[in-house]
Amino acid sequence: MSQCSSATGAVALAEVPEAAADRVWRWVLSSGFSREWAPGEEENAVAEPASWAGLDGARTFLLTEGAEPVGYGEIWVEKGDDEAEQAHLVIGPQRQGEGLGRELTARLTERAASSASRVVLRVAQEDTRAQAVYRSCGFRPMFAADQVAFNQGQPRVHLWMERARRESLT
Ligand SMILES: CC(C)(COP(=O)(O)OP(=O)(O)OC[C@H]1O[C@@H](n2cnc3c(N)ncnc32)[C@H](O)[C@@H]1OP(=O)(O)O)[C@@H](O)C(=O)NCCC(=O)NCCS
Repeated sequence: MSQCSSATGAVALAEVPEAAADRVWRWVLSSGFSREWAPGEEENAVAEPASWAGLDGARTFLLTEGAEPVGYGEIWVEKGDDEAEQAHLVIGPQRQGEGLGRELTARLTERAASSASRVVLRVAQEDTRAQAVYRSCGFRPMFAADQVAFNQGQPRVHLWMERARRESLT
């Protein structure tokens, strides 16, 4: 497990069951940073996370502590690509600030790194909390040219980060 994890054994990551979609959606709507993933879709409580799961190449994961769902995230790998993107990470609002975001990031990264040698993610420029979590899990901002390339054609300009190689971590 990554150095950003302080795994307690009770925390686990598994493919998300459809029954959890409603709860995940409520978490998403609870933060401005995640609400923008599907603006104006509040009434579509269950269908939206299910449709994320249906995206080509997307795998959806639930972080649990014991029997309790506490977080959600996705890994996208395009067929034939050696690059994986971690996306839509969210921790239930009652459980934020306890280290679970780092646990989720560490576990998703472990899965993503088993599918592709490059692991990337995008984060809102203003989302300094998420950026701190990703940094502590070994992610660093991409070089400027990559920022431009990855933001090309996107509806919003994000900060793009990628998992640094172990030897370049500071
Ligand atoms: C971002 C998110 C996943 C992080 O999960 P979390 O469980 O709250 O994070 P953790 O408890 O593991 O770590 C939080 C760290 O951020 C730090 N932090 C908190 N607010 C911060 C801020 N405004 N700026 C910088 N760092 C901040 C904390 O000090 C803590 O670090 P520390 O333990 O070294 O002190 C969670 O807050 C969330 O779901 N937010 C809403 C959705 C979202 O923004 N998702 C990210 C999409 S890219």
